[in-house]
Amino acid sequence: MALFLDSSDPKETQEIFSWGVVSGVTTNPLIISREAPDADLKQRILDVVAASKGHVSVELTTETEREMLDEALAYWNWNPSRICVKVPFSETGLKVLKQLVDKGVPTNVTCMMSFNQAYLAALVGATYISIFSGRVKDMGYDVRPIVRETRAILDREKLGSQIIVGSVRHMIDVNEALMDGAHIVTVPPPILRKMLWNPRTESTIREFNDAWANRGKK
Ligand code: E4P
Repeated sequence: MALFLDSSDPKETQEIFSWGVVSGVTTNPLIISREAPDADLKQRILDVVAASKGHVSVELTTETEREMLDEALAYWNWNPSRICVKVPFSETGLKVLKQLVDKGVPTNVTCMMSFNQAYLAALVGATYISIFSGRVKDMGYDVRPIVRETRAILDREKLGSQIIVGSVRHMIDVNEALMDGAHIVTVPPPILRKMLWNPRTESTIREFNDAWANRGKK
């Protein structure tokens, strides 16, 4: 199991990679538009690549097969050993995915809300299949059986795709996804920071360090 960072901020990426707990990065057009609306996409992504290790997922924004394939290959060529192309799930997305898989391009099929979508992407041979926890919950459905059943079929049929659970809104989403069989959870920086924190830990360390500083004093 692993954690990825869900961010396009190179400074934040460098800081959080220094903790030693994350092993890849996911971005999407919404994250980049919010974090850096005026940024040059290539420069922003290459800065994230430099600040991190492992795959950095970059998502396609075009919608026809030809455009998506060209866009995918352009991103991949920025750094073939580090860039993973995020392909939005659709019929056209599957066709693009198939061609990228055949070329050996790492892929992350994204925006998936269901077991059947995840299974189809895994059958094509996606490197990662991303299930969107928060957005499934927004629709009033339970994401946990989707993750559990997807993991069960990957294992049963020996399919090589790894499940990424994304769209994480609360700390409990991370815990549940890991318990349900996600290979990876991609976590936004504020949630990762919440994972560090416990008031009893802080008060215990304060108590120990104060005792040490005041040892021998009456
Ligand atoms: C990650 O790969 C996803 O793009 C991201 O987690 C989506 O999060 P959101 O549903 O909060 O936009």
